[in-house]
Amino acid sequence: MDKIRFCQISDLHIPQKGDYPFSVDVRQNFKIALKKIINLAPDFLAVTGDICRSESELNIYKWLKKELEKSKQKYFIISGNHDLSKDLAEVFKLKKFLKNNELYFQKDFKNLNLIFLDSSVGTMSDTQLKWLKKQIEYSFSKNLKPLIFMHHPPIKTGVLFMDKTAPFRSSKEFEDILKQFDYKFDIFCGHYHSDRIITTEKMIIHQAPSLFFQIEGDIPEFNKKTEFVGFKIYEIDEQKLIDRTEIFKSNNIN
Ligand SMILES: [Fe+2]
Repeated sequence: MDKIRFCQISDLHIPQKGDYPFSVDVRQNFKIALKKIINLAPDFLAVTGDICRSESELNIYKWLKKELEKSKQKYFIISGNHDLSKDLAEVFKLKKFLKNNELYFQKDFKNLNLIFLDSSVGTMSDTQLKWLKKQIEYSFSKNLKPLIFMHHPPIKTGVLFMDKTAPFRSSKEFEDILKQFDYKFDIFCGHYHSDRIITTEKMIIHQAPSLFFQIEGDIPEFNKKTEFVGFKIYEIDEQKLIDRTEIFKSNNIN
């Protein structure tokens, strides 16, 4: 298996033009990340949700699509809890993958099966979970390594405010599927605005930072940190997966 390099950006929270929430130039953070990513020449970029600042807005998706297409970077995109899957599907021309307002799909990519899930409402339907199981079976039958992308971390990951206020609510059902396989799954998520790796018996959870602000993990109250933002870079071959984070100073206005 040739080495595959891919990047992940998450929790972009793009506001309307001229809007600088918490004094952060969010659009500029995204543009700088994209420039750095292009320089790394990854095989693909995964955008793991929360595209919009607070609620789904078509013009935000359109702006992002234009920026991504200008860059010529191959990418995949899923929605977060601040998005609407049906709007995202419409703008990014993914409507054929929309089932009961859930947007999930897969892509064979070299020796990988890239599995993109929809946790945007905080849960996953039984239909989607059954599809996930089928995709895992398909991966092993074709000797493909399954990589799972979703907005929410599948379990609570110790960022106390997020665990308390906005955890994934289908954790048990999700884990019940993974438990049926003798395998440890790599899962790529965001949502918690906190760069972390969490390992369990069945999962290695790669939790990406946000391009907007980070959330203090050790206190149950909301406390944002706007100094630094970042994105993930992964390199994968037959033997290993390397997970690293590129951190850079947030573009803030005074
Ligand atoms: Fe989120």
